[in-house]
Amino acid sequence: MSFTIPRQYPGTRMRRMRKDDFSRRLMAENTLTAADLIWPVFVLEGSNRREAVPSMPGVERLSIDLLIEEAREAQALGIPALALFPVIDPELKNELAEEAYNANGLVQRCVRELKAACPALGIITDVALDPYTSHGQDGILDEAGYVQNDRTVEVLIKQALSHAEAGADVVAPSDMMDGRIGEIRRILEQERLHNTRIMAYSAKYASRYYGPFRDAVGSAGNLGKADKSTYQMDPANGDEALQEVAMDLAEGADMVMIKPGMPYLDVVRRVKDELRVPTYAYQVSGEYAMHMAAFERGWLEDDRVILESLMCFKRAGADAVLTYFAKRAARLLAQ
Ligand code: PBG
Repeated sequence: MSFTIPRQYPGTRMRRMRKDDFSRRLMAENTLTAADLIWPVFVLEGSNRREAVPSMPGVERLSIDLLIEEAREAQALGIPALALFPVIDPELKNELAEEAYNANGLVQRCVRELKAACPALGIITDVALDPYTSHGQDGILDEAGYVQNDRTVEVLIKQALSHAEAGADVVAPSDMMDGRIGEIRRILEQERLHNTRIMAYSAKYASRYYGPFRDAVGSAGNLGKADKSTYQMDPANGDEALQEVAMDLAEGADMVMIKPGMPYLDVVRRVKDELRVPTYAYQVSGEYAMHMAAFERGWLEDDRVILESLMCFKRAGADAVLTYFAKRAARLLAQ
C-alpha cells in the first residue's frame, strides 16, 4: 500500500477536526451498535437456577427458564444472537461424548425453548465435544491419548445435526478438527437443512485465555494440566490462520471466527482483508476476566473501557464480536 502525505503543517492541523464533537463524529470511520454484539451464555439443568462463575464476575450459569427471560431482554436491546454453551452433568460425560447428540439433551431442549419464546433471536450452538467428554478434550482419544480426527468428526456431525434439527439457526464448530466443516455441510444439505448457517471457529488458538470458560462449563477439572495444542493453533502463527479460514470457506462455512480476540486483532485484519467474508472475533473469558479484575480494583474505568475494547474489534475488521459484555454494552449504547 502506498501512502502519500501531501499535506503539511500548518495548512494541515490534525487537531482541527478533533476540536468539536460534531466534527469528531463526522470523521468517525467505524461505529459500534448493538447489532455488532453476540452474547455467549451458559445454560444448566433445572428451573429457577442461577450460579455465579467465580472467575467471571457478573456472568452466571442459568437454567433454561431464566435464560429465556434474559434472552428476551437481549433481544429488546437489539442484540442479534446468543451463543449457547452447556454445563453438562458429570454423570453424563463419557469417553465417547455420547450425550453431545442426545435429541433431548440440555442444548437441544434449550434451543427448542428459546426458539419458541424468541423466534427472531438468532441462536448459535457450539459444536464441540469438550463439555461431554470425561477427559475434557474436544474429541475421541486413542490409547495414547491423542485426539483422533476422523473419529471425532463422525460425532461432531451427529451433534451438529441434532442442534439444527432442534432449530439452531447457526452451528458453530469450535473444535478445530480437519474437515469438519465440509462433513457438517454435507449432512445438513442431505437432511435438507439448507439454511442452517455455519459459523466456523476457523482460527482458534491453543490459548490460556480460555481458563475461566473452562471453569464456567466445568471442563477444567476434567482437562487438568493437559492442553489442546495438537488441534488448536499455535499463537506464534498468522499465515496458518489464513489457510484455515480459506479451507473452512471452501468446505462451506458462511462465517469465520478468530479466537481469542484482543491479542489476535492482527489476524482479524488479515482475514478480513484477504477473504472479505463475514468475519467474527471472540473476546474470550480470559479477556473478560482481566477487564473485570481491573474494574473491581478501580484500575480502569469500566463503561468507557468496555466500549473502547469492542470498537477496536470493529476497527480491526470484525463484523461483530462475541462478548460477555454484550448486554452491558448494548445498554450503554442505548443511552
Ligand atoms: C470449546 C470452547 C472453548 C471456548 C469456546 N468453545 C474452550 C476451549 O476450547 O477450551 C472458549 C471461550 C472462552 O474462553 O470464552 N470447544
